[in-house]
Amino acid sequence: MKLLILNGPNLNMLGIREPEIYGNQTYSDLCELIMRHAAEIGVEAEVRQSNHEGLLVDWIQEARGKFDGIVLNPAAYTHSSVALLDAVQAVGVPTVEVHISDPDRREPFRRVSYVRAACVACVKGHGLAGYAEAMDLLKLKMENGK
Ligand code: DQA
Repeated sequence: MKLLILNGPNLNMLGIREPEIYGNQTYSDLCELIMRHAAEIGVEAEVRQSNHEGLLVDWIQEARGKFDGIVLNPAAYTHSSVALLDAVQAVGVPTVEVHISDPDRREPFRRVSYVRAACVACVKGHGLAGYAEAMDLLKLKMENGK
């Protein structure tokens, strides 16, 4: 079982950017948490981050036939990207949307998520632990064959 964990713009700035919202842990802490959790639950995981929408689209397309699930934090592209929505819909790989903060409790423009319609679940507001939750959800889904 192989999971692709994709992170959008500015998530490489974790630990530096708005620590009151995103906490003090760095992007490399996040990668460690994900790899540790993958080992704990017995799945393979690959973590990637890009500030570029098109590259995220390329990676979602690449997941088809190679990965069993995607954990996607589209960051700011959540609120603007029809291209990411279309990509998730196109590949048909079960995808869980993740946000470290809860965008629904922040500025009104963050309440819109384009990708949400194509995702099997959304985990938001649980900090970095939300990535582990999303991985668990995908594993459970695959085990149940749904
Ligand atoms: C975010 C929430 C988005 O609104 C924001 O643009 C981000 C991070 C989160 O993980 O809480 O960059 O996706």
